Amino acid sequence: MADGKVISAQIDAQEWLEPIADKMQGAVQAAYDAAGPAKKPIENALNGVWMGHVLHPAVVTVPIGAWTVTAALDLLEGAGKSEYAPGADASLAVGLAGAASAAVTGLTQWYPHKEASVKKTGAAHALLNITATVLYGASYAARKQGNRGAGRALGFLGYGLVMTSAYLGGELAHEKNLGADHAPRRGLPAEFIPVLSAAALPENAPTLAQTGDLKLVLVKQGARIHALANSCSHHGGPLSEGRLENGCLVCPWHGSRFRLEDGHNEDGPATFAQPCFETRVKNGQIEVRTNTALPQNRQ
Ligand code: FES
Repeated sequence: MADGKVISAQIDAQEWLEPIADKMQGAVQAAYDAAGPAKKPIENALNGVWMGHVLHPAVVTVPIGAWTVTAALDLLEGAGKSEYAPGADASLAVGLAGAASAAVTGLTQWYPHKEASVKKTGAAHALLNITATVLYGASYAARKQGNRGAGRALGFLGYGLVMTSAYLGGELAHEKNLGADHAPRRGLPAEFIPVLSAAALPENAPTLAQTGDLKLVLVKQGARIHALANSCSHHGGPLSEGRLENGCLVCPWHGSRFRLEDGHNEDGPATFAQPCFETRVKNGQIEVRTNTALPQNRQ
């Protein structure tokens, strides 16, 4: 087993993490529910829907970068170069401020995911970050009280935890695919191909159609037939099992809303638009091809 798999397996074996994850996710859910109509706009902003990319990985560079500077300057101060002490303290403070935004974006991205392995890894990631932030807070206090040796020691301890936590963040993103694009993007049909008999498509009911490996969701509204890729770009939820709402299709898993017209993600957590297809009816068959006028369909 590769090293990364060993660590994954170790975390998966920690049953005590799951109830902690449930409590954390429940607290985030309750906080968002209390926000009422502001819930979706806040969530969309913190998920990065507005920039077409998950926000959390960009935000975490602030505390990680700042605390890396702290560690480097602490080493210099420890080697007798006391002129680096103010820089170490300033970068530590910047890291503390950045940790707050990293926490809210990370929790927002993670809380809808209910797979046990994602919950446990996310909880471990969050607990390490919280502990590291507390250590950095104590480090800052020690420095301000003139106890610079203890301040540096606490900082190094915090940095070790931050690096361990960053590894788990990578695990969530690259092994468990949080934040990755789960919609099909390659090998989409450039020419019209038949996918379903027109007679088999009911009015206003999302319907699954398949051609080769490509799964589509079709929606007939009057003379118009809409076609989107079936696998939700957020985490692969089956859009054909979703519901229609104001010209959009709502994913049954975490509620992302995609415009039928062009696949645009009106609401997250999906940060990527859904592949969208042109349709026509020929010889009683619904045919689709990629709508290359849409940016998300360009390969
Ligand atoms: S899979 Fe999460 S919103 Fe669709």
